[in-house]
Amino acid sequence: MASKQPIDYFADFSHVGIASIGLHFPPLALPIVELAKLRNVDPDKYLIGLGCKEMALCPEDYTVVELATVAAKRALSRWQGENKNIGMIAVGTESAVDMSRPLSAWVAANLGLKGAIRSYEAKHACYGGTLALRQAIEWKLAGIAGQKAALVIAVDEALYEQQDPGEPTQGAGAVAMIIDDPVIAHVEPFSYPWSEPVFDFYRPVGCAYPIVDGKFSLECYCQAVKACYQALINGRDPEKVLAEFHALCFHVPFPKMVKKALASLGKLLNWDEEKINNLFKQKVDPTMDWNRLCGNAYTASLWIAVANTLKNLDQDKRIAAFSYGSGFGSELLTLSAGPAAAQGAWAKDVEEDIKQRHYISAADYQALRKRKTKTII
Ligand code: COA
Repeated sequence: MASKQPIDYFADFSHVGIASIGLHFPPLALPIVELAKLRNVDPDKYLIGLGCKEMALCPEDYTVVELATVAAKRALSRWQGENKNIGMIAVGTESAVDMSRPLSAWVAANLGLKGAIRSYEAKHACYGGTLALRQAIEWKLAGIAGQKAALVIAVDEALYEQQDPGEPTQGAGAVAMIIDDPVIAHVEPFSYPWSEPVFDFYRPVGCAYPIVDGKFSLECYCQAVKACYQALINGRDPEKVLAEFHALCFHVPFPKMVKKALASLGKLLNWDEEKINNLFKQKVDPTMDWNRLCGNAYTASLWIAVANTLKNLDQDKRIAAFSYGSGFGSELLTLSAGPAAAQGAWAKDVEEDIKQRHYISAADYQALRKRKTKTII
C-alpha cells in the first residue's frame, strides 16, 4: 500500500486576498491644536509628544452604522463581483450599538443583503477587524466558501471621557474590504499571533467610556510587537527579514506609540538609535499619513495604514501588518501587493472625505460633546 501523503492545506493559497477596498472618515474634524487650547496644554505635547494632528469626529446623529455602510458601499462599487455573491459579512468593532444584534445586521439591512450569508460581529478591542479578516481568509482557504466572497469591515468611533489623557488620541473611521481574488493584495496564509490576558484598556458593560491604563497599554503593545516580530524572524537575520518588506504597518493608537514600539523591537535586536530611526523614517512613518488625519479609529486604524501603504504599490511588493487589541490579543500578518494596488482607487475616498469635512472649533467640540448622549453598552 502506498504511504499516505501529508495534506498540504496551503498548496494553492495564492488565490485569496483583498479584492476591493472602501474607506470612510466622518464629516467633522477637530485640529489637535484646538483641543490643546481648550485643555490649556502646550500644543507640542499633542503634536510632537503624541504625534497627533487632526481628530475625525461623528456628529450626534452619525454612528458606526453610517461609517460602515458608506465604506462598504464604496468597496462593493469597485468590486468586479455582484452583491449576490457575498457569503459573509463580518464587522470588527468596539463601538457596538447593541449587546445582541451584530453591527453586521444594520449594515446588511442598509445594503439590502440577505440570504445564504454568514453575518456577525467580531470583538477584541482594536484587534476585532483583523480577526474578521483572518476568518474570512481562512473561510476561503478552507475551500468551503465556493465562489462566494466576504465583506469585512473594521469600524470605530473612539471617544474618551473629556479631559482623559486619551482625549487627544480620539478619532473615527471605517475600512471595508472584499475578500476574494487578491487583485489588490494577497494575504499570506501564515500569521504570527500573540495574546496575554491583561486589563490595559477595557469598557465594562454599562460604562460609556473605556477605562485606560495608558502607560501599561504601551508596555503591553511593545511586548506584543516584540513577540510577534520574533516569531516572524524565527532565528534568521532580522535585517534580512525586515528588508523583505517595503513597509511595516502597525495599529496606530497614536503615532508616537508606534515609534516607541519600534524602538523597543530595535533594542531587543541590539540595533543602535540611528538604525532604528532610519527604519522608522523609511518604512513606518509614511504608512501613518492617513492616521494623522483621522486619529485613532480603533479596529480600523491598522487597515487605514495598510490601505494607505497599498495605494500605488508595485505588484509583489510585500508589507507587514501588526494588529493589536487591548486585553490583549495581537497578530502580525504579511501581505503582497496585487496588480490593482498600483491604481489605488480607494485613495479618492480619503481625498473626498477630507475635502468635504467640516473643521470645528474648540467651542463647537464642547457643544458637540454635550449634545452627544452616548448609548451605554
Ligand atoms: N512638547 C513636546 N513633547 C511633550 C511636551 C511638550 N510641551 N509635553 C509633554 N511631551 C511629551 C512627553 O515627554 C511624552 O513623551 P514620551 O512618552 O516620549 O516621554 C508625551 O508627550 C506624552 O506625555 P505624557 O505626560 O506621557 O502624556 P499623558 O500621561 O497625558 O498621556 C497617554 C499619554 C499615552 C497615557 C495617553 O495619551 C493615553 O492614555 N492614550 C491612550 C492609550 C491607548 O490608546 N492605549 C490602548 C491602545 S493600544
